[in-house]
Amino acid sequence: KKQEAWSARFNEPMSELVKRYTASVFFDKRLAEFDIQGSLAHATMLAESNVIAASDLQAIEGGMKQILGEIEAGKFNWQLDLEDVHLNIERRLTELVGDAGKRLHTGRSRNDQVATDIRLFLRHEVDRIQDLLKALIQSLVTVAEKNHATVMPGFTHLQVAQPVTFGHHLLAYAEMFERDLERMQDCRKRINRLPLGAAALAGTTFPINRNRTAELLGFDAPTRNSLDSVSDRDFAIEFCAASSILMMHVSRLSEELIIWMSQRYAFIDLPDRFCTGSSIMPQKKNPDVPELARGKTGRVYGHLMGLLTLMKGQPLAYNKDNQEDKEPLFDTVDTVVDTLTIFAEMVEGIQVKADNMRAATLEGYATATDLADALVKRGMPFRDAHEAVARAVRYCDTQQCGLEALTVPQLQEALRLTELGYSDDLVDTALCAVLTLEGSLQARNHIGGTNPDQVKAAAAETRKRLGF
Ligand code: ARG
Repeated sequence: KKQEAWSARFNEPMSELVKRYTASVFFDKRLAEFDIQGSLAHATMLAESNVIAASDLQAIEGGMKQILGEIEAGKFNWQLDLEDVHLNIERRLTELVGDAGKRLHTGRSRNDQVATDIRLFLRHEVDRIQDLLKALIQSLVTVAEKNHATVMPGFTHLQVAQPVTFGHHLLAYAEMFERDLERMQDCRKRINRLPLGAAALAGTTFPINRNRTAELLGFDAPTRNSLDSVSDRDFAIEFCAASSILMMHVSRLSEELIIWMSQRYAFIDLPDRFCTGSSIMPQKKNPDVPELARGKTGRVYGHLMGLLTLMKGQPLAYNKDNQEDKEPLFDTVDTVVDTLTIFAEMVEGIQVKADNMRAATLEGYATATDLADALVKRGMPFRDAHEAVARAVRYCDTQQCGLEALTVPQLQEALRLTELGYSDDLVDTALCAVLTLEGSLQARNHIGGTNPDQVKAAAAETRKRLGF
């Protein structure tokens, strides 16, 4: 007959519904590998401290090896009756090795055990996410290098503002994702502390060596306060906050990819394998991947809110509420991992329609600021130059032409400098030359500017910083 680990204390069994309600094994079995890793380190430390015998440790190691094999082979018999991953593994260990298995939990509680498992899990995932972020940044840099001189309209208010290069635009995202990488690195420091040894909440009467367990598990140090150790989940919240910011960046990029792929813009195309068709409209090719990424950003924000709300009312120390931390955390990890994996590949596959980008830049008087700047360099105060160029834009609007199409006399007529008290001689062929898109790009030649050489240098710097 199956019994709960604590059944000796109770007069009546749980109903099936309450069992299902309180059990977590169906989702926390995902922690099994880390649970075993933590148990082996704990047992090693107990043996070294003479709390259990060397023969017990040997038996535990043998049993855990078999259990890990059973889990990996999908042959492990997970039981709802045993509530969670921890009790399932402990029970199986005892079946396999007897009393040594029953000694494993000496000086330990599921409270510090689960806190340790989550940290081991999250550390592993944060390291993967860092690699994936680097891969995405590398893709952005690769496409940026190919397009370091590809001109496109830069926008403010989604209105054409000034010419930039497509490479410069992509490197803006590389910067955002590099900051996300830094946030992950920083968050890892606070994940990488060992709670084991806190036991249920107050520590243990056994002569444990927490530094040794920390060392065995690769943690930087043990946590400093036992109450905090079993109740703190802010490392998980911090990870979800960093993930939310990361997904916000993914979502902005997605929004742009979607806009750029629309027929009205036609700046880019995405490879077919990231798109789907329509069941009714034969001509359709929809940017599903960026749309879904934009949508999935919402669930990651939701998990952040969920975890914050989960923690906000909990008195010290451990409360069962915390069992609810796992599903949001797992789903955040899965969403971020899948999204980054797909995006690294998709970004590399962006097909650039440079002619359309160029034509769109010519449509919006994108070099008007360059003209005003040039007049300033010829002695006009900026406000007067601004007004003169605004008139020229109106002139072009009625003539239905671009600023760069104007001849010297036409530009003189358009600017009407004499009305503002300046000579028409300020307008010559050199002034007309600043109106070209290439001239505009070239002129922004400083750190962080869109000059194609600066873009190339920024890409090279990013490669150097990240080592690819
Ligand atoms: N499954 C539990 C969790 O996820 C493990 C800790 C249970 N501790 C307890 N005292 N009931 O938090």
